[in-house]
Amino acid sequence: MSQINIKELFDESRFPSGWKLVALFLYTPLGIVLVLLRLLIGLQLWLFASLLPDCDTLRTCLNHGLTLTFGIIVRVDMTGEERDKKSRIIVANNVSALDHFALRRNAETVTPSLWELPNALSHAMGLQEMNMNSKDALIANIKHFLSSSGYNIALQPEFGSTNSRVALLKFNSWPFSIQSSIQPVVIKTQRPEFVGVKLTSVASTWWMDVFWFMFVPYTIFTLRYLKVKRNMDSEVLAREVEREIADTLGIQTSNHTVSDKTEYEKRYVLERTRSGTLQGGRTMPNAHIVANAEMRRMAHQVSEVFPLVPYNVIIRDLLKTRSVDVTISNILEGIVTYVPEPAPTNSASTASVSRIQSNEPKSGSSSGTLSFQERKAKMIAEARERYIQKHGLPNC
Ligand SMILES: *[C@@H]1O[C@H](CO)[C@@H](O)[C@H](O)[C@H]1NC(C)=O
Ligand SMILES: *[C@@H]1O[C@H](CO)[C@@H](O)[C@H](O)[C@H]1NC(C)=O
Repeated sequence: MSQINIKELFDESRFPSGWKLVALFLYTPLGIVLVLLRLLIGLQLWLFASLLPDCDTLRTCLNHGLTLTFGIIVRVDMTGEERDKKSRIIVANNVSALDHFALRRNAETVTPSLWELPNALSHAMGLQEMNMNSKDALIANIKHFLSSSGYNIALQPEFGSTNSRVALLKFNSWPFSIQSSIQPVVIKTQRPEFVGVKLTSVASTWWMDVFWFMFVPYTIFTLRYLKVKRNMDSEVLAREVEREIADTLGIQTSNHTVSDKTEYEKRYVLERTRSGTLQGGRTMPNAHIVANAEMRRMAHQVSEVFPLVPYNVIIRDLLKTRSVDVTISNILEGIVTYVPEPAPTNSASTASVSRIQSNEPKSGSSSGTLSFQERKAKMIAEARERYIQKHGLPNC
C-alpha cells in the first residue's frame, strides 16, 4: 500500500463545492460574529487563567469555557469498548490541531506540548508542557508525569493530521515503548452539513484550523475506544494498533511519515508560489514594502546559514519563495546561482553551525527554554545537513 500517493492524504482546499459553497457564503456574516464572540470568551479565559490561583474548580470552568470557544462537542461511541481506567496511555489517530482538547474532555488525558500557557489553562486544554528536546527526555518526562499525577497521557503517533479519508500516516513506534499496554481510541469528526468546512487542508497552519473551529457553529468529535492492547515489542504493538485504528475508520495504513508530509507541503507551497508569481505577482507592487521588515528578518536567517551568498541574491529568491526553508533548499540544490562573496576566512560558516550544535546539550539541561530563534536555527542547521547528505553536495 505504499502505492498510495501522498497527495491523496490531504485536501487542497477545505471548502466544499456546489450548493454547500453557496450555503457557506450565506452563513459567513454569522460565522464572523461567532468568531469575534468566541475570541472574546477566549480572551476572558486567558485572563482568568493568568490571574486566578490554579485549582480544580478553575480548571473545570476553563474547560467548559473552552468548549464554547472552540465549539467542540464530544461524544462517545457506545458500540465501542469501555474506557479502561487502568491503562494510563491512550493512542489516537490525529484529525485536527485540537484533538487533545476532545480527548481531555472525555478521557482525562493531557498531551505533551511545547506551549508555555498558564498551568490551569494548559490543563483545561489537555496540554502539558514537557521537555521535547529528545525522544528519551520526553519518554522520561512522560514516565515521571504518570507516576506523579492522576492524569493520563494521550499520544497521537502520526504526529500530523490527514484528511482521514484515505490512509493514516505511519505510526511512530516510540509512544508504544513507554508502557506495554495502551488503549487505542478512534477519533471521528463531523460538522453541520450547511457549513461543510473541512478540519484542515494541505499546508494549513494550526491557527487557521482553529479559526475555522470558531467559525463553524460546532464540531462533533466522536471517540470510539478499542480493546486494550499489550505487547512488549513496541514496533509490533505500533503496527497492530495502527492496523486496528485504520480498520475501524475504514481506511488504509501507509508508509508515509509526518516528515514526508512536511516535505510534501513544502513542495506544494513552492509550486503554488511559483505559479502565483507567473500569473499575477506583478499586480501587487506594494507588497514588497509592506513585507520589507519580514523579508530582512528572513534574509538574515538565510545568510546566517550561507554567509557567502550575497544578500541581494537571497532577497531575490525570498521574494519568490517567501520561505526561509524553501530558499535554503533552493540554494543547496543549486536552483539559485550566485557569485560567492569574497570572504577573508572560511570559518564564518562553520563557526555559526558549530555554535548551534554546541548549544544542544546546554539547552537540554535548561529544561527546554529554547527561544524561537534558537529552535529555528537548529532546524535550519538540521535541514542543511539533511539536504547535504541526501544529495551528496559538498559544503557550500
Ligand atoms: C511499508 O513498507 C514495507 C517494506 O518497505 C512493506 O513490507 C509494507 O507492506 C509497507 N506497508 C504499507 C502499509 O504500505
Ligand atoms: C496533530 O496534527 C496537527 C495538525 O497537523 C498538529 O498540529 C498536531 O501537533 C498533531 N498532534 C500531535 C499530538 O502530534
